[in-house]
Amino acid sequence: MSAPSPQRRGRDRDDAAAPEDGAQRVRLRFLPDGAEVRVPSGTPVFDAASWNGIAIDSTCGGYGTCKKCKVRVISGEVPVGAIDPRAFTSEELRDGWRLACRANARTDLVIEVPPLQTRPKAALVGVGRHVILRPSVQKRHLVLTEPTLEDQRSDLQRVLDGLEDLEPHTSIDLMRSLGGILRAANFDVTAVVCDQELIDVEPGDTTARRFAIAFDLGTTTVVATLLDLDSGQPVAVRSMLNRQQPYGADVITRISATMMDDRALSALSERAHETVAELVDEVCAEGAVDAREIYEITVCGNVTMMQLALGIDPEPLSMAPFVVATHTFPPVHAADFGVIVHPRAPAFVFPSLGAYVGGDIVAGILATGLTRDRRLRLFIDVGTNSEIALGSSERVLATAAPAGPAFEAAQIKCGMRAAEGAIEALKITGDDLELEVIGDVEPVGMCGSGLVDAVAELVQHGLLDHSGRFIPDEDAAVLHPGLAPRLTMIGKERVFVLHWRDKDPETSVYLSQRDVRELQFAKASIATGWGILVRELGVEPGEITQVLLAGSFGAYLTPLSAVRIGLVPKLALPRIVSAGNVAGEGAKIAALSLRERAEAHSILREVEYIELSGRADFNDLFIDQLAFPG
Ligand code: FES
Repeated sequence: MSAPSPQRRGRDRDDAAAPEDGAQRVRLRFLPDGAEVRVPSGTPVFDAASWNGIAIDSTCGGYGTCKKCKVRVISGEVPVGAIDPRAFTSEELRDGWRLACRANARTDLVIEVPPLQTRPKAALVGVGRHVILRPSVQKRHLVLTEPTLEDQRSDLQRVLDGLEDLEPHTSIDLMRSLGGILRAANFDVTAVVCDQELIDVEPGDTTARRFAIAFDLGTTTVVATLLDLDSGQPVAVRSMLNRQQPYGADVITRISATMMDDRALSALSERAHETVAELVDEVCAEGAVDAREIYEITVCGNVTMMQLALGIDPEPLSMAPFVVATHTFPPVHAADFGVIVHPRAPAFVFPSLGAYVGGDIVAGILATGLTRDRRLRLFIDVGTNSEIALGSSERVLATAAPAGPAFEAAQIKCGMRAAEGAIEALKITGDDLELEVIGDVEPVGMCGSGLVDAVAELVQHGLLDHSGRFIPDEDAAVLHPGLAPRLTMIGKERVFVLHWRDKDPETSVYLSQRDVRELQFAKASIATGWGILVRELGVEPGEITQVLLAGSFGAYLTPLSAVRIGLVPKLALPRIVSAGNVAGEGAKIAALSLRERAEAHSILREVEYIELSGRADFNDLFIDQLAFPG
């Protein structure tokens, strides 16, 4: 077995601007509450605080123009910056007062944060993350003086003067309509600034309404969350199957389609656009929001999904040396994804670590706070290509393990998607099987979590031995006389019937010996992945304080079964948690906070990618991991 070879992530020139000292970290302690964080050297104090839920006054969002982010450096060195003398007296500067957004932390620091003048809004997103709202989209109501012969400032300058602390640039597109809007509204308007661009000027006061959509563009499912940027709350959430499905269930098949047919790339791109466009219609209708009030979108997804949606040839992703078109996309607009919202709405696209550790995983790492938490945590996004990250604020390593389609039940005899009729969980009680079936209907198959449960229970009850073989009939008859008849043959293959139909194994729902093997390969691949990360980090599995199971499959996995089959380290069950759709949570966080978005770029720089293929120890570890734990 060999792993695909995601490109070792280089320090490409297209990597985002981030703290310049790379992965070296410094420790910051914030007073009065004493919260401690470790951040990359060079991180602005304002960002370090914001990323960790510590609020510092600001109205400019960290651009150095409002001069409200005053903090005092109690210990450690922060040189006086260019803007500091405009905000502080020389005595205050000597006392250590600095503007937090201009103060880069290059040594360990103790920082005093004065009480807030204004209470910032925050939202609970991600895995228990408390995110201070600082959306890229800002609105300002402006009642401007009308031009006169004495005041001949240009229309644009009049608006920019009203924006005081913001110094946005704008586009020729807006200039075409600006004069008309100002005069029709008697110069009573609302400026819409997104990041550093003035994207619109609207008549009257529209400050109460600003929205964004966070997209999780998955290979199978696409999820759209319409967010109210004022409250940070989701207004509507909708999901649907990716309309690229007819071109294949997984990324490799879809890439192959583009290699075999010149028209497939544009067709796949259009299918992705149709999917997101339909979701936009649905969330807008549900949330009673005009699509024009959506001023920004954020998008996360694996690299193939991103490249296909943006019409970029994905072929290099499928063959060595597995090169991505770019780790960080140049400025992209919502329209580039076929999303019809505000015509000048930008799109924030998550950067990717490599061909097989994409923006969805960066979003997931952001949502879990893996790179900032002092606890040693293991993150596994379980899927055909399983992404794994292990670490803490000290250091984070990541890898991709090719698990194959077992978890999606694609090559499982009675496998099916997690839809009505799928066995999603099961338990052996005495001589009986208790099945949990989606929709409470008669079972027609089993989904990935049902497969894991079935194997884990059969191992636990001795019907499968630790090598993954069904035990002989005569042993089963002694061990579990009530269950033994379920162990039967279809052709030359042994199977275990989970649900009888017409007393005929062939028409029943069953687990075959080959299914067990498929799962063994998948779990061994993932266990080898985290095993290598544990080894590289120089820790013991028992030191891991939390395992976060992510992705649409991971979220439904029973922690007990995951431990029993050896998919995750043998830890106390409360330490193994379902993290849900963390990629989607990361996309929401990026829409709600500009500072968190900057952290996504830091993740790109800080997380070290470990390539599994080509490692001398991979095969030995993989063989060791094939057996089920005793
Ligand atoms: S946050 Fe506005 S000047 Fe620092």
